[in-house]
Amino acid sequence: MTAPARLPASLTLVGAGKMGGAMLTGWLEAGLDPRATTILDPAPSEAITALCAERGIALNPAEPAPAAVLVLGIKPQGLEAASAALAPLVGPDTLVLSILAGKTIADLKARLPGARAVVRAMPNLPASIGRGATGAVASPEVSADQRAVAEALLSAAGLTEWLEAEAAIDAVTAVSGSGPAYVFLLVEALAEAGVAAGLAPDIAGRLARATVTGAGALLEASPEEAAQLRRNVTSPGGTTAAALEVLMRADGLGGLMREAVAAAKRRAGELSG
Ligand SMILES: NC(=O)c1ccc[n+]([C@@H]2O[C@H](COP(=O)([O-])OP(=O)(O)OC[C@H]3O[C@@H](n4cnc5c(N)ncnc54)[C@H](OP(=O)(O)O)[C@@H]3O)[C@@H](O)[C@H]2O)c1
Repeated sequence: MTAPARLPASLTLVGAGKMGGAMLTGWLEAGLDPRATTILDPAPSEAITALCAERGIALNPAEPAPAAVLVLGIKPQGLEAASAALAPLVGPDTLVLSILAGKTIADLKARLPGARAVVRAMPNLPASIGRGATGAVASPEVSADQRAVAEALLSAAGLTEWLEAEAAIDAVTAVSGSGPAYVFLLVEALAEAGVAAGLAPDIAGRLARATVTGAGALLEASPEEAAQLRRNVTSPGGTTAAALEVLMRADGLGGLMREAVAAAKRRAGELSG
């Protein structure tokens, strides 16, 4: 059994776009008090405006006060322009929770001089449907209580893994941050290979898509490791074994994936700052 979620007493979300808006929906479903929630977004979507009116969430109040948690959901390149308006929202006990790609804890503290406790998180696209995989790192000032609050907020969007060192965020970006695109490419490649093997394109496309979503659902439902599930469907000398011999050879998928992840990690490092 996991401990009950420790949602914050008050929360301000800055930037209720795709990711921020989706996370907000998850937090409300998890029990976040809408009356202790504030949204700051200069051009909120109709859906966010309607949600705020319906649930009594403060939207762009004239004088927002510091909350227990300040979530940054704006684009990374917007941080500099937003920082003057954000500074008064950071009280001495405010936890700053940032999902801004490439912005380090040092960058965030430099832009928000009052900030002490900072959690930097890297969610991925499926977080927008509550099925994300997020890596997070906490600054030394983050208390055990604040970490539990950050965990509750991040876990509303899916799996959360805490990292010891901030440098590991670039590896998280390369594995789970960019990872959904690798899986989408797998669907494309499988469909193309199906066409090359003689299937009609629409049939190959539907089969490839359903194979990946079905295998994902099976992986989720099963207590077995992926490698065991793979072995379970691989009879010696059978068709799957013939394919895996190609995919698992020295210049196969393993080496290619290592190269791909290393390239993404390198790029994440270059883009950071
Ligand atoms: N989408 C992903 O898969 C993903 C994955 C990992 C991390 N992230 C991170 O999540 C963050 C948000 O990405 P997103 O895709 O959700 O972007 P998005 O849809 O553009 O959302 C950003 C929102 O912030 C608003 N905004 C801009 N400046 C603001 C300001 N000064 N004060 C308050 N709100 C402001 C934007 O309004 P306007 O539209 O009017 O500019 C928009 O509604 C990024 O930092 C990104 O690195 C995203």
